[in-house]
Amino acid sequence: MTLSNPDAFRQKASPDTVAIRWLGHGVQLLDQRRLPLEEHWLTIEGAVGVAQAIRDMVVRGAPAIGISAAYGVALAARGAGEDDWRREVEASIDTLAESRPTAVNLFWALQRMGGVLRQCQSREDAVARLAEEAVAIHKEDLAANMAMADLAVEAMELDKPCAVLTHCNTGALATGGYGTALGVVRRLHEQKLLKQVYADETRPWLQGARLTAWELARDGIPVTLNADGAAAAILARGEVKWVIVGADRITANGDVANKIGTYGLAVLARHHKVKFMVVAPASTVDMSLESGKDIPIEERDGSELRQVGGITLAPEKAGVFNPVFDVTPANLIDMIVTERGVVRTPEMTGMHRLFD
Ligand code: MRU
Repeated sequence: MTLSNPDAFRQKASPDTVAIRWLGHGVQLLDQRRLPLEEHWLTIEGAVGVAQAIRDMVVRGAPAIGISAAYGVALAARGAGEDDWRREVEASIDTLAESRPTAVNLFWALQRMGGVLRQCQSREDAVARLAEEAVAIHKEDLAANMAMADLAVEAMELDKPCAVLTHCNTGALATGGYGTALGVVRRLHEQKLLKQVYADETRPWLQGARLTAWELARDGIPVTLNADGAAAAILARGEVKWVIVGADRITANGDVANKIGTYGLAVLARHHKVKFMVVAPASTVDMSLESGKDIPIEERDGSELRQVGGITLAPEKAGVFNPVFDVTPANLIDMIVTERGVVRTPEMTGMHRLFD
């Protein structure tokens, strides 16, 4: 990544940010590692390539990972041989399942694709039906985001524009389009109810600085970037009324795994009497796990912390602890918004009411 070209930051006004395009013979992914300096699309024609792209963060964000994996399964059917097609697609599903452990949308999408695969009678049938299913998963995610934005804005009961703070990137880049938490921010802006959105930079991958600030600025939404460590001081000023974040997995008791730093934000929000909202589609809910303690938390390589922009800044001899998600306990969350409805002060009963 070079930081020397100011033209790279020139904004294009467009509300149509997309990160995933289905071509039929392949899937195109906007390489999120290179944003905002370059808008570079990768064309991938097989499941192994999709699994690699998910592992390497070409595509990231829970719903976008699920959608990409679904396309990966569709591509596996296209690439499979006439005789052994079913076994080959099943093997690809296993490969995709190993790409990242925390976002349950990946496993949800693979399970759904596996269900369709079991009904297919021939390779040709599988090629057609798996592609259709992947496109359906993609479209449904966009529709869920639109529905959640409406539900969330209604639940906020605002009588005047307010400032909000968000973490990581939960926008069009992280989903099938529009976004979860960032979809709510977009809807607030559309309804002239948004004064300002503060975007945590989100160390170490800088999803807030590189992706959220980019998405919002190109849509003309007033965004202020802050260092993660500035969140406490921002909340202390009293201007921010809501912290709005996404999720990678929500368990049956309402605990939420999301980008590292989310838990700390929830503690800060409670201390400063700021409301804390989680916005995520039903595909992020994992009712098979009782609590957040059961969620596998991904740890990534120490180089991601030691280095900034490819330059090593911390001593190689220093140990590194790099969990990329944390768990926010349900009792710090004011509401979880899904396309099925809102769970207020989440706990078992409220979750079961919507997700059984
Ligand atoms: O490591 P990432 O970039 O995949 O993490 C993304 C997040 O934690 C998002 O907040 C979450 O997936 C919700 S995206 C709508």
